[in-house]
Amino acid sequence: MGSQERKNYFGEGVAERYDDSSSEMFDPAVIEPTVDFLADLAGDGAALELGIGTGRIALPLSRRGVTVYGIDLSGEMVEQLRAKPGADQIQVTLGDFATTRVPGEFTLAYLVYNTINNLTTQDDQVACFQNAAAHLLPGGCFAVEVGVPQLQRLPPGETVRPFTVTPTRLGFDEYDVASQGLVSHHYWMEGDRLRGLSVPFRYVWPAELDLMARLAGMTLRERWSGWNREPFTSESRKHISVWQKDT
Ligand SMILES: C[S@@+](CC[C@H](N)C(=O)[O-])C[C@H]1O[C@@H](n2cnc3c(N)ncnc32)[C@H](O)[C@@H]1O
Repeated sequence: MGSQERKNYFGEGVAERYDDSSSEMFDPAVIEPTVDFLADLAGDGAALELGIGTGRIALPLSRRGVTVYGIDLSGEMVEQLRAKPGADQIQVTLGDFATTRVPGEFTLAYLVYNTINNLTTQDDQVACFQNAAAHLLPGGCFAVEVGVPQLQRLPPGETVRPFTVTPTRLGFDEYDVASQGLVSHHYWMEGDRLRGLSVPFRYVWPAELDLMARLAGMTLRERWSGWNREPFTSESRKHISVWQKDT
């Protein structure tokens, strides 16, 4: 599927409120270890962010001295990025990160904040790994931050699991185990108006990602449960995995 047909879930009405609605992800306690980790991997080379969004990670990584490029489907998200100081240092290409090629060679490609799950078929996720690998120099790394599917935390016999419950925000995931899909439902108050957005995802296990990496000529180098290199265990809710392009 190309970007022509791919639906933009981060368009008008979402992009302007993205930074506020994800404010916990902009906490320096989240950003700094992420940027440290990615800057180490990039070394002296350039980095490519798939799904760069409003530049939550790309801007501080660029300020750290790494040359950063980005791909994103959403012109509205990129417009938010463009309005921020330092954005002129970052070259962004509008397109689908499963297929869009950016000129240049990179020591690092990265895809954070569960964004691999925005690709809702296995074929698209495989294509994304192949596209990331195609941008990397031999020995370059592809880093992905994504949640571990929370199936063991679903109440028995249920398919729905809440992830946010506050007086002004409600969010829950609705799983479809047969198709390895889930829909995240978000509801929030704007003044006295209730707004809602439902976004489809494809959840994916670490082992399946390892296989996608192998299909793309990359091998698992490290896997952690957090950006401070916390160990990955059976209880971990997310992982940061790094695959290295074979030399
Ligand atoms: C959850 S946001 C993450 C943005 C940013 N990486 C961050 O960490 O704040 C997901 C971003 O990925 C973009 N995106 C989703 N699917 C995409 C695709 N197939 N190709 C390009 N961009 C995509 C969205 O437009 C959005 O900007």
